[in-house]
Amino acid sequence: MRFLFLGDVVGKPGYSAVLDRAAALKTEHRLDAVVVNAENAADGAGLMPRQYRRLIDAGVDAITMGDHIYRRAEIIPVLQESERIVKPANYPAAAAGRPWVIVPTPAGRLGVISILGRVFTRPVDCPFSAVDQALEDMAGQTDAILVDMHAEATGEKQTIARYLDGRVTAVLGTHSHVPTADAHVMADGTAMQCDVGMCGPYDSIIGRDVGRVTKTTITFEPCHFYVATRDVRLCGAIVESNAEGLASSIERFEESIDGDGPNR
Ligand SMILES: [Fe+2]
Ligand SMILES: [Fe+2]
Repeated sequence: MRFLFLGDVVGKPGYSAVLDRAAALKTEHRLDAVVVNAENAADGAGLMPRQYRRLIDAGVDAITMGDHIYRRAEIIPVLQESERIVKPANYPAAAAGRPWVIVPTPAGRLGVISILGRVFTRPVDCPFSAVDQALEDMAGQTDAILVDMHAEATGEKQTIARYLDGRVTAVLGTHSHVPTADAHVMADGTAMQCDVGMCGPYDSIIGRDVGRVTKTTITFEPCHFYVATRDVRLCGAIVESNAEGLASSIERFEESIDGDGPNR
């Protein structure tokens, strides 16, 4: 199975680019599935039901979220009903959404899990025991498994990835919105990358307008952080799985959408 995982979709620039490119990417890269982290799709925070529907209709097979999952309350019924979107598996049982899903693809069944880190983030349940439970629940039902580790700290992400080495196909990071240069298949056959980067405007501070973020950081005066507009890129990773459900390869994926490139 070959699947593409795209990192945090930020605002209209990222969302529009994914809608435009999802189906074509499947053909161009011979993909069996596309999974997208959409926690920042709705003007930078959350996901609206209409956006969810359009992403699925555009060819996205499954959606992960993150700490911004409930920023748009309208998405809660979708989280309760859909079998193509997950909540963080280490959120409370009472929180809306499924801790894992299994989506059909032409090459088999792809399990998708999201977990949140606990370093420099809001307190949540243990991601290690949550992912153990999800894997136990999914046992025997999948041909490949993708874990989206949504966390801030590189060390924590490496720890989660190593913990899962040999047990899932890929452990791919989101949340920091900046791609890391460490994509590789670990010793026991699991692909990992600390952060696959965002789908959004890179002429920005993690997707937001540079001037607004800088001013608030310096003055402490709060203001709305607009989603930036320039140097839009899709970033992620393409993973190929083998018959054992482990990874035979991982390659970073990056595509420039507006063609202007960085540092204009
Ligand atoms: Fe994000
Ligand atoms: Fe996040």
